[in-house]
Amino acid sequence: MNKAVILVGGPSRATRFRPLSMHLPQPLFPVGGQPIIWHQIKALSGVDGLREIILIGFFEDHVFQPFLSKCQDEFPEITFKYLREYSQLGTAGGFFHFRDQILRGGPKNIFMLYTDICCSFPLGELLAQHERHGRLGTIMVTKVDRASAHLYGCVVVDHETKLAEHYVEKPETYVSDMASTGVFVFDQEIFQFMARVMEKRAIEFEHERAQESAYGRCDDGDGAQDVNRLRLEQDILRAMAADKKLSAYLCTGFWRQIKSSASAVPANALYLQKASTSDSALLAKPRSGGPELTGAVYIHPSAQIHPTARLGPNVSIHARVVVGPGVRINDSIILDNVHIKDNAAILHAIVGWDGRIGKWGRVEGSKITSADDIDEVTHSGIKLNSICILGKDVHVKDEVFIRNSIVLPHKELASNKHNEVIM
Ligand code: GTP
Repeated sequence: MNKAVILVGGPSRATRFRPLSMHLPQPLFPVGGQPIIWHQIKALSGVDGLREIILIGFFEDHVFQPFLSKCQDEFPEITFKYLREYSQLGTAGGFFHFRDQILRGGPKNIFMLYTDICCSFPLGELLAQHERHGRLGTIMVTKVDRASAHLYGCVVVDHETKLAEHYVEKPETYVSDMASTGVFVFDQEIFQFMARVMEKRAIEFEHERAQESAYGRCDDGDGAQDVNRLRLEQDILRAMAADKKLSAYLCTGFWRQIKSSASAVPANALYLQKASTSDSALLAKPRSGGPELTGAVYIHPSAQIHPTARLGPNVSIHARVVVGPGVRINDSIILDNVHIKDNAAILHAIVGWDGRIGKWGRVEGSKITSADDIDEVTHSGIKLNSICILGKDVHVKDEVFIRNSIVLPHKELASNKHNEVIM
């Protein structure tokens, strides 16, 4: 029997996902027509012998209940649970804290997946390689551009033995172009290894505190909390690599991070393209009499699309959206209950819930490349070109052009805006 843990973080994380995370926790934001973490769950449901998926986070208990009830109906052979951390324990702290619950039933292998990624998730192959090599854990890595390797956790891999020789978090100088993907599988004995790391850390903390009081430095009282806060990659995987207990599995499918709200658009495109190569019923099919569809397009059954509208590629249209005559949309996500009037254009953009786009209105962002989602919104005080994002309930008046901007919720835009963050 195998189990999986998905780290969902909490309300104080995913700050780069604002303004969209102001209304919906990032893990539930839809890409490819489904919440981000649904894609992790769907991939896990295909792993042989996987019986339980546990979400660990510090959102309130009720946040994931409706979503998990739906998952329970869709994947009845799997049990779902949400476990809430008493405070932010880091990427390994909650995993360790809830070890008794994770170990209940004696799982042989335990997957761990981050939320803020979009991936082809070759989990069956990952597990097969993990079992073949028999080490304590396996990290899934992906090849990244040498020039952007410093933005990731990098792993030095012996490709013959699959041994992960070193792990370095965001290295200043080049060490490897194999980046951690946020997907791991561990043998159940991982918790004994983690317990030893925790013991060592507790001794080091005691030592530091003793030194601090000897030098008369003030204690901020956070020591007890910090000692339980554990980072998976820096505190655990680095130690596993040093002890030759970590394997690396190379993912050759697609992968990218979903950190900023802008990165939801390329993630949406990747999942829609994946659906177009499978026999998934997700994508809209062109029909005579319109609308005109190009490439992969998802349309919720409750949306009303005028037959003269032109949609695609890489477009998701959500519930109760109304798209008027002559509207053009590509590379965009249109969230629930948005109304888009005649001849408007939405390109490289996200239009938040309840938005209104007037006649001949234009909402246009710039295409982003692979590593851009890690970049800042502004550079030297100037807004960078990126996806155009309208928060919830933003109204764009007739003939107004919003370009490369981020607009916070509940705004009425009656004049053109270029490269602005509109608070
Ligand atoms: P950087 O990528 O380093 O900038 O930080 P980040 O917060 O964007 O990502 P991080 O690597 O810290 O988080 C990876 C995953 O773990 C995400 O899915 C987070 O939501 C989740 N996560 C991060 N910290 C915690 C935590 O304290 N508890 C839980 N349960 N999840 C966490």
